[in-house]
Order: sequence, then structure tokens, then C-alpha cells
Amino acid sequence: MDFKQTSLKLLLNNRRKVKNFQYTVPSPDTYPYQWLWDSCFHAIILTHFNVGEAKKEIMSLLSKQFDNGLIPHIIYWDKKVKTDFPKISWGKKNTSSITQPPMVAYAVWQIYQKDNDLNFIKIVYPKLYHFYKYLLNVRDPHENHLIGIMNPDESGEDNSPRFDIPLSLPPVHSIEKSRQKRFKLADQNIKCNFDAPFCMRNFFWVKDVPFNAIMVENLRLLAQIATNLSFKEDACFFMKEAEKISLAMKKLMFEDELFWSTFGESYKKIKVKTWAIFTPLFAKILTHKEAKELVEKHLLNPDEFWTKFPIPTVPINEPFFDPKGFWRGSTWIATNWFIYKGLLNYGFYDIAKQIKESSVALIEKSGFREYFDPNTGEGFGAKDFTWGCLILDMA
Ligand code: GLC
Repeated sequence: MDFKQTSLKLLLNNRRKVKNFQYTVPSPDTYPYQWLWDSCFHAIILTHFNVGEAKKEIMSLLSKQFDNGLIPHIIYWDKKVKTDFPKISWGKKNTSSITQPPMVAYAVWQIYQKDNDLNFIKIVYPKLYHFYKYLLNVRDPHENHLIGIMNPDESGEDNSPRFDIPLSLPPVHSIEKSRQKRFKLADQNIKCNFDAPFCMRNFFWVKDVPFNAIMVENLRLLAQIATNLSFKEDACFFMKEAEKISLAMKKLMFEDELFWSTFGESYKKIKVKTWAIFTPLFAKILTHKEAKELVEKHLLNPDEFWTKFPIPTVPINEPFFDPKGFWRGSTWIATNWFIYKGLLNYGFYDIAKQIKESSVALIEKSGFREYFDPNTGEGFGAKDFTWGCLILDMA
């Protein structure tokens, strides 16, 4: 298969235009709207084809930013489109009312690396500034330097077992049960008039490892963007905030050599092992010794994550591991991409290469599906799903 050409065809097929805006749907049937971190992935992939199109993806994403700075995780550009995607009351007219992992500075920085277009970063910077300030101020009300999420969907891993305890769900449950709980959180968000600290304190307050690791790396890149615009004070501020979060992660999340997400105001560790343990590699939070141990003990362990088609989102020896489950054991290409980038940070080139090759093998075997059985490679979920194209950025 000519991977680059097939990916381009898929992206063009999933491209939508509304008035002056252009965006890419993750999957025409299952996810026919615009999603936050998906659009960041799309922009990253598009930089390998046409940087102008990558900019358009970001511009449409930023166009519905709330006054308080939040960038909503779904934009319903076309509400009439036919889909099985559930109708959810978010309390907003054309968007959701929650956010998703803050990958947008990363995407903008990658765009800027391609063409050094100062004008583009000048236009988007105020929006980025506002978004990351919102996360730092509103999602960290106690100033403990960890960013909170108020709904599992904000992590991008809607039904991950990391959220079972905070949602009071048993380790084995139907996706419907998890949905009911998550929709209820969306209702409560409306009832409290979108007061995120109130919602976190009262209904769901998780400090998630991937979200915070992504925040750290993105704040550093935001600082680079600010530097290029000669905003020295901003650059200094965002670098310091990145450092504070990474120190807080070490202080409040690290135990028995692994990072654990926490919940509640007492930062109780959620000792549920998932692929999240590798995300600190992406943010360069670990020492080389710690990284080596993590990779050798867990990533390359055939009883945990080193399956025929790695990396399962949950290790195969966990009781709730489900190879076909939605974020409960299946392999996803975006999570592979994060781990791939993290491995490069620490010089594990061969292992990264193997992950890239097995990701390609998954697509060749089962097509551009949403997620895959880590043992057999069988594909599940959405079809014509864009995340497979991220392999083009594994280089
Ligand atoms: C699912 C995924 C989420 C993604 C969305 C659109 O809800 O869990 O991460 O953003 O689909 O692809």
C-alpha cells in the first residue's frame, strides 16, 4: 500500500467546509463533527502534505473558543448530518461544554517549523494564550500545579478504566453504563452554569497523567512560540508553569516507579495500570534511568504491554483487560504516536521503529479502523478513521 497516498485520500474524503471554515471529521459515519485533539492530530498530519491546510484546520478549531478561554472538544458544524453518534445535551448551541487534551500548541509549533510564518503564530497566539491560561487558572483552583478534568471525555479516553473508581463503576461494565455517568456529568455542568471548579469539587475531579504530561510539553512549545514573537515575559511564565506541573506530577502522582492519575481533593492515587504510565516520556519528565526501567519492565514485558500488535491501552494481565474494549485494552494509533515520540526523546530508536512497523501492519491488515485487538490485529469501532494517518508523523 502507498501509505502516504492512501492517507491523503482519506483526509480529503473526511474534509468538510462550512462557509469560510474547513475541518476534518475523524470518521464520516461515526464522528461527523470537529473534535479538539483530533484536529490537532489532523494538523500535524497535514504538515506533511500542505501546511496551508493544516493552518485552516487550526483556525476552525479556534473559532469557537469560549469567552473564558476554554476550547470546546466538539464543534457541531453541521447538526443535520446522519450519524449514530449520541445526542448529548451540553447546554451550548453548536459546541460541547468541556475540553480535551491541550495539543494545540504542539500542532501550531509543528506548523511553524515547516514555514516559519510569523504572521500565522501572531494570529493564533492570543487564542492559545487564553486557552492555556484558562487551564492554569480555572482547572487548578488550589494552585497545586496539576490540571484537573471534570469529565472522562476531557481525557480523550472516554471509557478508560482509570475513571472507574471516580465514577463508582465496577471493573467490568457496559459502555452504556459509563455513558450514563458521563452524560450526567454533562448535565451537572449545565446545572452549575459551567462552573468548572464547582463541578470538579462536587462531581468528578481527576488529575490525569496524560492530560498533565501533554500540558507540560505544550506549555514548553507555547513558550517557544512566545519567544519567536518576542514576548519574553510570557515565554518565561509558560516555561515556569511547565516546570511546576512536572514537579507536581513527581510529588503527587509518582509512586512505585510509576505515575498514577489522582482523584478528589486529597489526590488519592488511582492505581490502575494503563498506557498512561508511558506518557511522562512524551513530556521528558523521567530521568534516563527511570525511563529505561519503565521501558524494560513494562513496555517490553510480554505479560503486560508487548503484545503481537502493541501497545494495548491496558496491560493484558489486568483483570479488566478487554482486547476489543473501548479504551480498555485495545491498541490505538494516537496512543502509539505519543509513546513513539516519548521513546525518541530517550533514544529508544529501535523500539520506536518496531511500534511504527506494527502500527503500519495493523492498518494493512484491518484498514483505518478506530482501535485494534492487540493480539490478533482485528479492527473495531469507526471506519475511515483518521488517526491511522499519524503514522506519517512517526519518522
Ligand atoms: C472518541 C474518542 C475521542 C475522540 C473522538 C473522536 O470519543 O474516545 O478521543 O476525540 O472519538 O474521534
